Amino acid sequence: MAQTWIILGATSTIARCFARQLADRGEGVVLAGRDIADMTATAADCAARGALLAEVIAFDARDSASFKPILARARDISGTISVAIFVGSMPPQEQIDIDPSLIHGTVIDSFTGPAEFLGLIAPLLEERGSGTIIGVGSVAGDRGRIGNYVYGAAKAGFHTYLSGLRNRLGRAGVHVMTVKPGTVDTAMTWGLEKLPFLARPEKVASDILRGADKQKDTLYTPIIWWPVMTVIRLIPERIFKKLRI
Ligand SMILES: NC(=O)c1ccc[n+]([C@@H]2O[C@H](COP(=O)([O-])OP(=O)(O)OC[C@H]3O[C@@H](n4cnc5c(N)ncnc54)[C@H](OP(=O)(O)O)[C@@H]3O)[C@@H](O)[C@H]2O)c1
Repeated sequence: MAQTWIILGATSTIARCFARQLADRGEGVVLAGRDIADMTATAADCAARGALLAEVIAFDARDSASFKPILARARDISGTISVAIFVGSMPPQEQIDIDPSLIHGTVIDSFTGPAEFLGLIAPLLEERGSGTIIGVGSVAGDRGRIGNYVYGAAKAGFHTYLSGLRNRLGRAGVHVMTVKPGTVDTAMTWGLEKLPFLARPEKVASDILRGADKQKDTLYTPIIWWPVMTVIRLIPERIFKKLRI
C-alpha cells in the first residue's frame, strides 16, 4: 500500500538512496533536514522517479521549534505515515576527549533530538493504527570502544529508546525497526582509515527497505555485522579493555 515517509536527516548519503528507492516504488517522501538546496535536488529526483509526493521541510535536531511544522504537515497528509531517521553526528573521539562539551551536541543529534521528535509524532501513528518507524543506530552502540565511545553511547541510548517505543507502538499496529549499520561509505566515514567490511550506501538502503517490508525488529546491515557483533559482545570486559578494535 502506498504510504508517505517522513525522512529525517534526508541529506544523509544513505537517506538519499533510501528516498530514491521509495520513489521508485511510487511512495511519498517528505525530506526533512538542514540543507534545503540539497534536499530540493533529491525531491526533484524522487518526483521524476514517480514518488506519490516529494516535499522538503526544515529540520534541525538541535532546534525543537523545527519539529512542530513537520508534525502539522504530517497531520494534513492522508493515509499511512511512516518515519525514517538517519540523523547522527560523529565528531572524532580524540576531539571530544580534548573538549568534552562536544558530548552534548553528539547526544542530541544521534539520540535525544530524534527521540523527542518521535515522541511528538508517535500519537499520530497510533491514532491511524498503521505505519513504520525506522531508527538508524549503529553497531557502535553495541559496545563502548576506545575509538568512538561517545557516539556509541548516544546510539546505545537510541537503541534502548527504540526498543521501548517498539513495545508501546506494536500494540497500536505501528512497527518500529532498529537498524545497526556497520561501516558505510558516506560523508561520515570520509577520510577514516582501516574500515572493515565497508558497505555501499545503496546496498544499506535496500537492506533497510527490505527489513522494513519484513517487519524486522533489529537489522544489522550488511548481515556480516550480526555474527561480528555477537562475538564482540561476548568478549569478557577484562580482555576487551585491552583491545583496540
Ligand atoms: N557511515 C557509517 O559508517 C555509519 C555506520 C553506522 C551508522 N551510521 C548512521 O547512519 C546514519 C546516516 O549517516 P550517513 O553515514 O549517511 O552519514 P551522513 O551523510 O554524514 O549523514 C548524517 C546526517 O545527519 C544529519 N544531521 C547531523 N546533525 C544534524 C542536526 N543537528 N539536525 C539535522 N540533521 C543533522 C546530517 O545533516 P547535514 O547534511 O545537514 O549535516 C546528515 O543528513 C547516521 O545516523 C549515522 O550515525 C553510519
